[in-house]
Amino acid sequence: MIEQFQVIADAVRLEVKPEHRKKIGICGAGGIVDGAHLPAYKKAGLEVVAIFDTDNAKAKDVAARHGIPQVYGTLAELLADPQVEIVDIAVPAAAQPEIFAQVAAAKKHILAQKPFATTVAAGELMVKQAKDAGIVAAVNQQLRFEEGVAAAHKMVELGWIGTVSNFSINVNLMTPWELWPWAKDLERLEVMLHSIHYHDLIRWFLGDAKTVFCAAGRTAGQFPIGETRTISTALYSSGVTSVVHANHVNRGGDNYAEYRIDGDKGSIRGTLGLLYDYPNGRVDTIEINSSVIPTDGWLPYPVTTRWFPDAFIGTMGSVMESISTGAVPRSSVAENVGTLKMVEALYKSMDSGKSVDL
Ligand SMILES: NC(=O)c1ccc[n+]([C@@H]2O[C@H](COP(=O)([O-])OP(=O)(O)OC[C@H]3O[C@@H](n4cnc5c(N)ncnc54)[C@H](O)[C@@H]3O)[C@@H](O)[C@H]2O)c1
Repeated sequence: MIEQFQVIADAVRLEVKPEHRKKIGICGAGGIVDGAHLPAYKKAGLEVVAIFDTDNAKAKDVAARHGIPQVYGTLAELLADPQVEIVDIAVPAAAQPEIFAQVAAAKKHILAQKPFATTVAAGELMVKQAKDAGIVAAVNQQLRFEEGVAAAHKMVELGWIGTVSNFSINVNLMTPWELWPWAKDLERLEVMLHSIHYHDLIRWFLGDAKTVFCAAGRTAGQFPIGETRTISTALYSSGVTSVVHANHVNRGGDNYAEYRIDGDKGSIRGTLGLLYDYPNGRVDTIEINSSVIPTDGWLPYPVTTRWFPDAFIGTMGSVMESISTGAVPRSSVAENVGTLKMVEALYKSMDSGKSVDL
């Protein structure tokens, strides 16, 4: 049985081959860069040559702690540095399109944090800017590289659970929204900033939905003004279904984050360890019950890395590989417009109380 898992381990390994490595310049020195991007790049042996943040003191502090040799006072200076080959943008979404346009004009490759834009129209314009500049541009939807879910994707691809009939994600968390003061007054919160990971992930497995419905809620005493609970359902042309339920004000103290994929020859179930104790997390789990392998009950696959920081090696690695080989990144900006369309349809449904066709 262990031998059968070898093909999965080979498919989900997070590493960047030395011949593909490129030098990185970072725009944004916030929590996610400090806690996930930089530790991941260190682990993968990637070189960060410069950083810029509008908060110069913060950039200097992050640079000092992570050994980044150059701190710039403006984006233009970072873009003028010939050493910088890829710009890693990690600032609040509202600020990303303007930065993206400048980076594309400077013909540097881009990895942009999710959501890379907050509207489909803005996203489509950015796709055009990247195409016109001839650069590789991808979105940091690193859940597509998280070892457990990437293993699940490979198992589905190998037909181990047969034809998929449903994908469910159920998370119930106490999210520390105070960590992101800029998110406090966002009217579009949960789907735009958090469940976008799940909707993007499900698109990776099932493609684009035909019809979606989303109900959203808030609870008394919550910190942000936007929706903190969403229940999204989707129907695909093949008849496949999906559901995402995410709650961020769990006062029960029993955080959990589970997913399950059902097929006609078996099922996969897993947990996202990161969310049990964000941002420290715990190990992920994934198990498969398959009549194809066969497994004789639920068989655990041993996950050895974590969403934070390890999966961040995957998104940056895919940009680097794409520059070297011409392969399309797993989460290219063009592909990610489909996720923005999904997000926009979910908000339309939330606002109208009706299902929305994509
Ligand atoms: N799993 C994930 O992929 C994940 C997790 C957390 C956050 N994020 C995303 O990453 C981005 C940053 O989040 P964070 O948690 O680091 O937020 P943060 O508030 O900790 O940091 C944001 C940083 O951006 C800087 N900034 C703002 N505007 C800027 C500009 N125009 N130019 C340069 N710097 C600017 C701020 O000074 C701040 O240092 C957001 O888009 C967020 O949605 C993604």
